[in-house]
Amino acid sequence: MKYLLGMDLGTSSLKIVLYDEKFKEIQRVSEAYEMNQPHNGWAEQNPEDWITALDKGVKKILEQSMVNPKDIISIGLTGQMHSLVMLDEKNKVIRPAILWCDQRTSLECEEITEVLGREFLINETANPALPGFTLSKLIWVKKNEPENYKRCRHILLPKDYLRLYLTGEYATDVSDASGMQMLNVKGRTWSIELMEKLDLDPGILPKVYESIEVTGRIQQHITTKLGLDKETLVVAGAGDNAAAAVGCGVVKDKMAFTTIGTSGVVFAHTSKFKIDKKGRVHTFCAAVPGTWHVMGVTQAAGLSLTWFLENFYKDVSEKVIFEELDDILSKVQIGSDKLIYLPYLMGERTPHLDSKCRGAFIGLSAKHKRENMLRAVIEGVTFSLRDCYSVVSELGIEINTMKITGGGSNNKIWSQMIADNYGCDISSTFKDSGTTLGAAILASVGVGLYDNVEEVCKWAVSFKDDYKPNQRNRGAYDKYYKIYKKLYHDLKQTFVELNSL
Ligand code: XUL
Repeated sequence: MKYLLGMDLGTSSLKIVLYDEKFKEIQRVSEAYEMNQPHNGWAEQNPEDWITALDKGVKKILEQSMVNPKDIISIGLTGQMHSLVMLDEKNKVIRPAILWCDQRTSLECEEITEVLGREFLINETANPALPGFTLSKLIWVKKNEPENYKRCRHILLPKDYLRLYLTGEYATDVSDASGMQMLNVKGRTWSIELMEKLDLDPGILPKVYESIEVTGRIQQHITTKLGLDKETLVVAGAGDNAAAAVGCGVVKDKMAFTTIGTSGVVFAHTSKFKIDKKGRVHTFCAAVPGTWHVMGVTQAAGLSLTWFLENFYKDVSEKVIFEELDDILSKVQIGSDKLIYLPYLMGERTPHLDSKCRGAFIGLSAKHKRENMLRAVIEGVTFSLRDCYSVVSELGIEINTMKITGGGSNNKIWSQMIADNYGCDISSTFKDSGTTLGAAILASVGVGLYDNVEEVCKWAVSFKDDYKPNQRNRGAYDKYYKIYKKLYHDLKQTFVELNSL
């Protein structure tokens, strides 16, 4: 029997899952790390913490599974997109990684648009300049920390920093590279012209591969340290959303999925290159060679929930709260007794493209308990995902299959809420493992175990629960969604004023 490893470097933890060659899950581990927020709207992580997590996780997987490392034929990498890792000439991390949800770069986005022109930017990178993307973060460092920028010889995305550690190679894949805003997304190659126009050195970019290509082998000293085998190959892999698509079998037209991780995403596969001229949803390369995807993003999906639990349910352990979540939610009616939550803790991408807006509870009364607020948080995130779904549909992208994955998909009430709000059937993946399974599938095709991703998905991907929209619930949600949609516009100016204090 051969084995494959899928590694997902998430925002809150590194998940490593060992699969056999038929994609049966053999062992999984998860190693958590912190996200630091030095200022309101900033988000950073220490890349060394990721390496510590990898060392611990791999050792645990090998010990617990007792699989012979020689039988692990390949590793597929995936992880949080956009976050900027900067390295000096000795591969030393120069400063903490600036994460995808960091909102400090709205000024830099304006400058990028001014220098390049909106038309060039959209034609070249398929997207408007956004604070979430890597390009504006790099320019922020160049302006605000010139010493750090001067020392920078390589930039990498988070999962690719793990790759460098494992293989010694500077490499990324087209799906993750799309989110750096330095790639010509249609042509699937770096935009040297863009780099030069912005006076950035293209030499700092890693080599870009299709998601199913092999990027290297494990270095000798790492095999000795972790117990891995030197013949194990590391495949390019994909950004977390493109990998989750593969893990959900979303690899053909008319297929889509929703993920509820730290962020929330509505992702639709497309074999035709399509752009939202208003920039509300992103167009990126997909992990299936020669295809793309369009996706809308809710910045704080699971993040809203963990923020709320950490601050208002401190007395209940995380394990207990997740076991009891369905029960708590079911005791509160749709609409949380006239309470609405806006999930803009880290600004918002779809549909507002606004880094300055922030979260809100609207309609709080002395009667409300934390249970109402908890349900309002889940409903607010769901409304934001409904916004994403509406924009994708508005672009004329037909969807006839909707899957759901990520931590939030373990929760039945939340999954039903998504089906009710979208008004379509959805099916959830097993153990929220879309990302790691997707990475493992890419790893299997990369080493030639199987011929192509679409064929593997036909038999390797299966689903746990099906949810059908309930028309009565939908009617009830509609009334709240209508008010939710208005609230952002009502509060927009207030957010600007607050932000300027
Ligand atoms: C996508 C995005 C997030 C991160 C977090 O554009 O920023 O989904 O990938 O995992």
